[in-house]
Amino acid sequence: MGERETFCTRHFLVILFIILAIVCSLAGAQKCKPSGKIRGKKPPKNQCNTHNDSECCVQGKLYDTYNCSPPLRKGRTKAVLTLNSFENGGDGGGASECDGKFHSDKSKVVALSTGWLKNNGKRCNKSIVIHANGRSVKAKVVDECDSTKGCDSEHDFQPPCANNIVDASPAVWKALGVPKKDWGLMDVFWADA
Ligand SMILES: *[C@@H]1O[C@H](CO)[C@@H](O)[C@H](O)[C@H]1NC(C)=O
Ligand SMILES: *[C@@H]1O[C@H](CO)[C@@H](O)[C@H](O)[C@H]1NC(C)=O
Repeated sequence: MGERETFCTRHFLVILFIILAIVCSLAGAQKCKPSGKIRGKKPPKNQCNTHNDSECCVQGKLYDTYNCSPPLRKGRTKAVLTLNSFENGGDGGGASECDGKFHSDKSKVVALSTGWLKNNGKRCNKSIVIHANGRSVKAKVVDECDSTKGCDSEHDFQPPCANNIVDASPAVWKALGVPKKDWGLMDVFWADA
């Protein structure tokens, strides 16, 4: 009897927790809704660079665009870390938006989703700290991961950026101590430096 009660109580708590988690995530999501959609165009031949897990737009597919990013949490905001080369000829396309320059794969630089770069604080040329893998790494914000546009030559025919991206140079991944084979996609926390 006692055992059975514990069992039920546990299940009840688990279910309650799941419901709370869903309610919280819905409430969070509602604070940043898509601002529009764009329809994918097929990249011209040899126009989309698929190196380093870059995705190319698919003809006819609809992509959400965002002017906003998720609200900042005090001290630690959750994000998805992606990999990008900010070098001339790298998968980042043109020069960095903040300073009009290219940046070596050896320098710790990042691009932020539009909302975090522009609309929720102005972060161009400022530094952020990225927490992951038990380490904290400081990196300079030099570019926009454009959540409002995409699927054109300016964006290397890649879809609009998600609204929760910290797009980081190889040096950032290295400093976080992530083995090279795992570079590309990772959950992290970040904060203003
Ligand atoms: C892919 O990433 C590596 C670093 O891991 C970088 O050196 C290289 O330039 C990138 N490739 C392209 C085409 O951007
Ligand atoms: C960022 O710094 C560069 C100099 O490295 C400067 O030219 C540029 O105007 C700055 N951008 C912003 C948005 O402050």
